[in-house]
Amino acid sequence: MKKVILYIVVGVATFAIGYNVNAVYFSDRSPIQPIAFSHKIHAGDNNIPCMYCHIYADKSTVAGVPNVRKCIGCHKIIKQDAPEIQKLTDYWNRKEPIPWIKVHNLPDYVYFPHKRHVKAGVHCQTCHGDVAKMDVLTRVSSLKMGWCLDCHTNGAVAIIGREVKNGKDCWTCHK
Ligand code: HEC
Ligand code: HEC
Ligand code: HEC
Ligand code: HEC
Ligand code: HEC
Repeated sequence: MKKVILYIVVGVATFAIGYNVNAVYFSDRSPIQPIAFSHKIHAGDNNIPCMYCHIYADKSTVAGVPNVRKCIGCHKIIKQDAPEIQKLTDYWNRKEPIPWIKVHNLPDYVYFPHKRHVKAGVHCQTCHGDVAKMDVLTRVSSLKMGWCLDCHTNGAVAIIGREVKNGKDCWTCHK
């Protein structure tokens, strides 16, 4: 019996250490946000489409993050009294944007147009993972040059039936 308890204690401790090391080491991949916004609740449990909030993904270089007005549209009624919603209402009353911390951030010398990818039929999930299951948004892709090139050569064949035209040329991504 004692042995079993010891195993459990060691198991839990190992998990706790592993989890924290992960959270610290990969903190840039899942930063703590100013409001505990959950994609699982919104895009998962409540099936709100990605493009309802990220309205520019098929129109522009950036996908965009929704403004406070969009949140308040629902939350002036939904869960008004919850502490995290009160934080939201405070931003709204102060007319301040929510200072979301970027999870993805390519260097300025890289050109990445969302529109071209979304219009070609690449799913958000292919690059961003199963976001609808994430309580805390986590970056799942390396965003390294090799990641882009690999899809422009091998990956694209599965998605659009051919390699991306000029997909390896330096000036396609470095203007
Ligand atoms: C109700 C609005 C809403 C919906 C629906 C929504 N998002 Fe978001 N999304 C946000 C907000 C707010 C943030 C910024 C906070 C955060 O990172 O969690 C965000 C952040 C993100 C980011 C990270 C942005 C960065 O900083 O790099 C990605 C990627 C993303 N969303 C993808 C998706 C995908 C894919 C879906 C659909 C499965 C989706 N979102 C649905 C509101 C939404
Ligand atoms: C289309 C409607 C809609 C929009 C837009 C929306 N939400 Fe929500 N939100 C919901 C629903 C539904 C729930 C789940 C409520 C429940 O648990 O009963 C929720 C839950 C939440 C919660 C958890 C509240 C708690 O403690 O239980 C937070 C925090 C939150 N939303 C923040 C935001 C933020 C920030 C935005 C804007 C980026 C936003 N929401 C946009 C519908 C919406
Ligand atoms: C081909 C891969 C790919 C696809 C497909 C893709 N994204 Fe992205 N996404 C990225 C990259 C790379 C960045 C980082 C861009 C930067 O830092 O300039 C990013 C950044 C974001 C951001 C942060 C804010 C911004 O606009 O830069 C959001 C939000 C986002 N994506 C949502 C989405 C949604 C929603 C979809 C689907 C409609 C989607 N993405 C499809 C690769 C992709
Ligand atoms: C999962 C696959 C995938 C990934 C990952 C990916 N791409 Fe693409 N990319 C595509 C597809 C598919 C197209 C559209 C090709 C078309 O419409 O002919 C495209 C098109 C482009 C274009 C437009 C090319 C042109 O002809 O103007 C640019 C620029 C681009 N990608 C940059 C990037 C960068 C930068 C990254 C990495 C940060 C990246 N892509 C990651 C699949 C991908
Ligand atoms: C499909 C998009 C894409 C193409 C094509 C591309 N790059 Fe890049 N490149 C990136 C991305 C994304 C980064 C930033 C991430 C990284 O450092 O891996 C980058 C970074 C770089 C860097 C900085 C690396 C460092 O370690 O700081 C150099 C130099 C570079 N690229 C040169 C080139 C050259 C030369 C070519 C043509 C042979 C090329 N790239 C083609 C996407 C691309």
